[in-house]
Amino acid sequence: MKILAIETSCDETAAAVVDGQRVLGNSIYSQILLHRKWGGVVPSLAKKAHQERIDPVIATAVKKARIDFKDLDVIAVTYGPGLAIALEVGIDKAKELASRHDKKLIAVNHMEGHIYANLAQNSQGKPQRDLKFPMLALLISGGHTELVLWTGDLEFKLLGETVDDAAGEALDKAAKLLNLGYPGGPVIDRISGQVNNRDIYKFPRPMSKSDDLNFSFSGLKTAFYYHLKKMPPEEISKQLKYLVSSFQEAVIDSLLLKLAKAIQQTGVRKIVVGGGVSANQYLRQRLRFLMKKINGEVIFPPQKYLCTDNAAMIGVAAAIRAQHNLFIKDFAQLDRQPRLSFHK
Ligand code: KG4
Ligand code: ZN
Repeated sequence: MKILAIETSCDETAAAVVDGQRVLGNSIYSQILLHRKWGGVVPSLAKKAHQERIDPVIATAVKKARIDFKDLDVIAVTYGPGLAIALEVGIDKAKELASRHDKKLIAVNHMEGHIYANLAQNSQGKPQRDLKFPMLALLISGGHTELVLWTGDLEFKLLGETVDDAAGEALDKAAKLLNLGYPGGPVIDRISGQVNNRDIYKFPRPMSKSDDLNFSFSGLKTAFYYHLKKMPPEEISKQLKYLVSSFQEAVIDSLLLKLAKAIQQTGVRKIVVGGGVSANQYLRQRLRFLMKKINGEVIFPPQKYLCTDNAAMIGVAAAIRAQHNLFIKDFAQLDRQPRLSFHK
């Protein structure tokens, strides 16, 4: 079953053609440069850019897949969570194409997409991953930080989430305080690697003592802000690498502490990771180490583009939805759900 998937929930205008788990064609227009000077995503600019780019992005994905539009069976689209006016662009386009070309329509939860990114394959069907449920999903992006119990096809339970900032957002804000540009995560990843990820400053790990599986990063951000305020600018420049790597260490420690708690509470030792922060080299190293120690297993999205926002993951999730006959019967009923979430 060939699916055209569309993703416009945040600042990537993305489309992909998949056949089951196989990604046949993928196209992403990143709006990063557009939002960079504002230090974050501006919804009205994102909407306008989605509107301008959606048609060429879809055309590129279809062209790369080397198929004819008429060979598509389904149009799939992200309907939440995300920015309402950005989601709308993708949903309207999906409805328009499905009606005009008489295709079936599937709506996908963006977070479900980040989980299914771990199952995406190239056009040759690689890698082949045989997942055994239950698994734990650690979802870490610019908008979300969640721990999810994954018990079967489309069966998810939210175990914990951030009560304030997301992990990626915390990295972005720290980078902004240091004038390192947007998004901050990749820069912080790179700089921290230069000093072997040393933790000199020992910034706080908020909520590490609480028994629940929720996260918090705003206290860390505030501690970082006041720490920088006390430092003369030349000292900040001199210590930049250590400041950055210590901040990253605090974020990653906070994530791993709660993951370890979730493993302890559920007894599940198989982990999948998703979202932009899952591209982080040091996080991957720490996760591999942790899972090796407890004889567990961790899986990452097989390619870097599958960590950050993309439509291939939406297509792979839609393929599972198609297997379960979860098509939208009345297109008019499909609406964006900016706050869509897994049930607790
Ligand atoms: O999943 P994503 O593309 O968008 C959302 O759904 O939010 O994630 C974007 C986030 C940004 O906060 C960015 O700084 C972070 O992922 N990120 C990284 C890395 N690459 C992207 N964080 C740490 N290390 C990276 N290599
Ligand atoms: Zn995302």
